[in-house]
Parts: sequence; C-alpha cells; structure tokens
Amino acid sequence: TRVALAFSGGLDTTVCVPLLEEEYGYDDVIGVTVDVGQPAEEFDEAEETAEALGLDHYVVDARAEFAQLCLESVRANATYQGYPLGTALARPVIAEAILEVAEEQNCTGIAHGCTGKGNDQLRFEAVWRSSDLEVIAPVRELGLTREWEQEYAAERDLPVEGGSGGDWSIDTNIWSRSVEGDDLEDPNYVPPRDIYEWTDEPGSETEEIEITFEQGYPVAVDGEEYEPVELIESLNELAGGYGVGRTDTMEDRMLGLKVRENYEHPAATTLLNAHEALEGLVLTQEERQFKKQIDQQWSQKGYEGLIDAPLVSALEGFIGETQKRVTGTVTIRFEGGQARPVARDSKFAAYSAEHASFDTETVGKIKQEDATGVAKYHGFQRRLANEAIAANAAD
Ligand code: ARG
Ligand code: SIN
Repeated sequence: TRVALAFSGGLDTTVCVPLLEEEYGYDDVIGVTVDVGQPAEEFDEAEETAEALGLDHYVVDARAEFAQLCLESVRANATYQGYPLGTALARPVIAEAILEVAEEQNCTGIAHGCTGKGNDQLRFEAVWRSSDLEVIAPVRELGLTREWEQEYAAERDLPVEGGSGGDWSIDTNIWSRSVEGDDLEDPNYVPPRDIYEWTDEPGSETEEIEITFEQGYPVAVDGEEYEPVELIESLNELAGGYGVGRTDTMEDRMLGLKVRENYEHPAATTLLNAHEALEGLVLTQEERQFKKQIDQQWSQKGYEGLIDAPLVSALEGFIGETQKRVTGTVTIRFEGGQARPVARDSKFAAYSAEHASFDTETVGKIKQEDATGVAKYHGFQRRLANEAIAANAAD
C-alpha cells in the first residue's frame, strides 16, 4: 500500500513519513513537492531530506498555472483582510498536482502535514475528498505539537535542520510570502526587519513604470510583454526594492481563530493597485459599486480554497463581461513604500474631460444650469422626513 505525502522537507512533513508507516500502516510513502515559485533552497531542502529518508520524491512544476490564477485574482481585485491570497490560491493548485501524482502512482492514501488549527488542511482536503483516496492528516489526527515533533525527530535521527527561517513558519510562492509563528504570535510584538526577504526598507528614491492591461490582465511593463510568471517575478524584484507590499495583520481564519500574519507581496500590490485604477477610469459608477460585492465573494471563495465552486464561475461571468473594457495603461509610482497610480489611459474611458471640467460652460446640449432641477430634487424625501420630525418634536 502506497501513500502520497505533500512534502516540503520541513519538520511537519518529515515526521509524517515514519508516522504514515508506523501509525497508518502504509508500506510505501512517496513525497510530492509542487513548484509554485518557492525559492530554490526549499527544493534543495526537500530533495536532500527526501534522499536522507529514502523517500521517492516527485517535483511538479505548477508555476504557469498558478501565475494564471494570480492574474485571474487581479481581475477580481482579490484580497482578504488586506492580504492578496498567495497561500490560499496556491493550495488548490498544489492539491490537484499531488492528487494527479498519487493516482498515477496507484496510491490508496494521500496526506498533508498541516495543523488542525489552520486554513491549509481545509483547502487541501476540499480537493482531495472528491477522490476515493484515504485522506490523512497526521499532525491533526495524532495531535502533534512542534515540541513533540522536534523530540521525535531527534529520537529517530530524522534529517531535520533547525530550518532556514529561525522558528518562524514561512510559506512562499510567487504571489506572496507569509511569515507566522513563534514570537510573531504575540500581536504586540514588533517584527524584526529580518522577517522580510522580498522587501527593502522604503528609502527616498522613486521610480515610475507603465503597466499595460488587456481585458483586465496585465501583459506588459514599460511596453515590454511578459508571460505571467516572469511578469510577477520581475515586479516582485522591482517593487520589493522600494519596500512595496508589506502587510502586518490580525487574520480571521476559517475556523474563527485570529492569527497574527506578516506578508510580503510587492508584485501583487502593484498589479492590484494598477488594475483598480484602470477600472476607475473605464467602469461606470454602478458597475464599480456592484463589482465590489462580486470581488468580495470571489476573494472569500479564494481564501477558502474553493476556487472551483460553481459560484466562482458565475462570478467570473460578470467579471469577464466588465473586463472586456479594462484595456489600457496605468503609470505606477513607487514612493515611500507605496505603489501609487499616478496616471491612467484607456480608449474605453467612461470619462469626458470636457463635461467634467470647471472651465467649460456648455458641452453639446448640456449646460451647467441643467443641474438646477436635479439640485431641487436631491435629498427631497429626507427633507420631508426631517420636516415631519421637527413638526412633531414638541409632542
Ligand atoms: N494564513 C494564511 C492563509 O491562510 C497563510 C498561512 C501560510 N502558512 C504559513 N505556514 N506561513 O492563507
Ligand atoms: C499550517 O501550516 O497549516 C498553518 C497555516 C494555515 O493553515 O493557515
């Protein structure tokens, strides 16, 4: 009997290997690491640990697919409590890739090393539980703590290092880098600068870039076209240099627990800000107002790891319709740790400089004084209501 394990080479997934044999009775464990843009060291760590454990190890490259999903999230202006959903969007992609390997390798079980307190268990299992495989979550099911895992690893002489990022729990993909745990669990603890790897301390330098969108998808920077993975990676590099895209937040997890999270997401912040600025130019007021609700629902499903829900397809129907006109350019200025839209242009602009200008009196058939009638009616009901309240105040 064979089980596929979502494997990172970290402490949690390393202790899962002997446990799957001893506690769950599998003869054979295979490890699967899915590439969604983690740094090279993580693959080295996974590779080395797998080798030391004698584990069959598979690496699946899902970067292009994941990058495409990140760009879909831009069209939905997707964030959850200020966080652009990197981990959340990556999980279903990772889970699908592992399931494919598991089925190819005739596994009867599939396992992850997520805690029973977090979101990731829910996101993995939402995908896996549509299959016939036995879903196993040793950390949750055996009630493992970090301390217990460390002792167990020492006793068994398992190949675990202290970990590269101190005692923090770090999750990285091209869309965001998250750092949590250990001393960061105290919401009142000010994080040291070395939790950040993608973002420099903002300095006084500034830079402007022009981002081109086609139907809501970012496709070029300063006129140069990029594939999604390259686009995101190069913007992480550039915007990160200006300290763009840090979030320090109390996050409400799906189970209802709050958790203190720190994130870095320079490219996501840049692209989301630019996209929203272009929508501001081309979408009508009523579209913008309604789309906020659509975007919020998309973000919620994204956070929950349920991006394949029929609701999401329906939401994307609306999003796609609006994005047909979200074509044009936005100039972003990196300044003071921000990625601020400073100019936007589109042939679909729902804007008339002539009509809006304070310098023109009559445009076509519309004159300034035409607003007089509107002004007379504006707030009419509340005027009547307030008069009635005043008239009856004495009673
Ligand atoms: N709380 C975030 C989420 O649910 C990120 C968790 C990332 N995991 C980590 N070990 N840092 O999407
Ligand atoms: C984990 O690594 O399982 C904790 C993060 C989460 O699931 O939210």
